[in-house]
Amino acid sequence: MIKNETQRPTRAVIIGAGAVGTTTAYTLFLRERVSELVLIDTNHDKALGEALDMNHGLPFAGGVKLWAGDYSDCKDADIIVIAAGSNQRPGETRIDLLKRNTAIFEDIIQNIVKYNDHGIILVATNPVDILSYVTLKKSGFPVNRVIGSGTLLDSARFRYLIGQNKGINPRSIHAHIIGEHGDSELPLWSVANIAGIGIDLTDDERTDIFDRTKNAAYEIINAKGATSYAIALALDRIIASILLNESSVLNVSTLLTDYHGVSDVYLGVPCVVDRTGVREVLNLELNDEELTRFHASANKLKEQIASIFE
Ligand code: 2OP
Repeated sequence: MIKNETQRPTRAVIIGAGAVGTTTAYTLFLRERVSELVLIDTNHDKALGEALDMNHGLPFAGGVKLWAGDYSDCKDADIIVIAAGSNQRPGETRIDLLKRNTAIFEDIIQNIVKYNDHGIILVATNPVDILSYVTLKKSGFPVNRVIGSGTLLDSARFRYLIGQNKGINPRSIHAHIIGEHGDSELPLWSVANIAGIGIDLTDDERTDIFDRTKNAAYEIINAKGATSYAIALALDRIIASILLNESSVLNVSTLLTDYHGVSDVYLGVPCVVDRTGVREVLNLELNDEELTRFHASANKLKEQIASIFE
């Protein structure tokens, strides 16, 4: 991904040098996804320290130019990742963060749009679906260029757990979690498959796998305080699909318009992601139970959105 002589540099700016922001930076740095990587944090010393620490690894890594910057660095950014804000304390839900992180976002988005009107904003801060919606409304960016990490991570957890049960590499498990990245998300067992063959699991096994998927973040936060590695890889996957114009299908969060009757809310659904951002939302077939749960997830988030835009 590093530029050759004829290409212009590609730049990602990461706002928030906490666990998610720095692990994402390190993932992009190791995989050389971009030629320039900028870390921004209200605690500039923290961003400086993280950048310095990674730069000292350059003799052993590729040639990514990485620095601790400020919002003016957004000017030449292809992608701006927002990973700033409070994260959950043990026992808190993602929705509990809404008020705190909405206030932080107002400021961040104002600063981004001062310098950038052409990039793609990738939101990772929780509650990610609602904050993606807030970003869309406050930035004035087109829908395709405001993307939430959505249920890509949840789908990865789901595929990992099914793979564990079946003794099959999770890359060969095709299974989706859609809806809120949070407690109202739902598994699409009706379309889950391995090589086109439906996945044979008992009801108890299905319940156990989905519960562990949904509660994975709580389990990790109780154990180590925050999640970081898998979300960083999920963000890296989205960024690769954008910058390499892959058109991969990823369960990111996007604004829905009459999607199974749901409109004006961001939710995780399978989307085709390319250099334009979300190029297309794929219209999954849902059975009655999935549809009911999907509507419940949408309604839950719409109520929360109404509470901040009232
Ligand atoms: C996660 O699911 C906490 O949303 C974060 O890892």
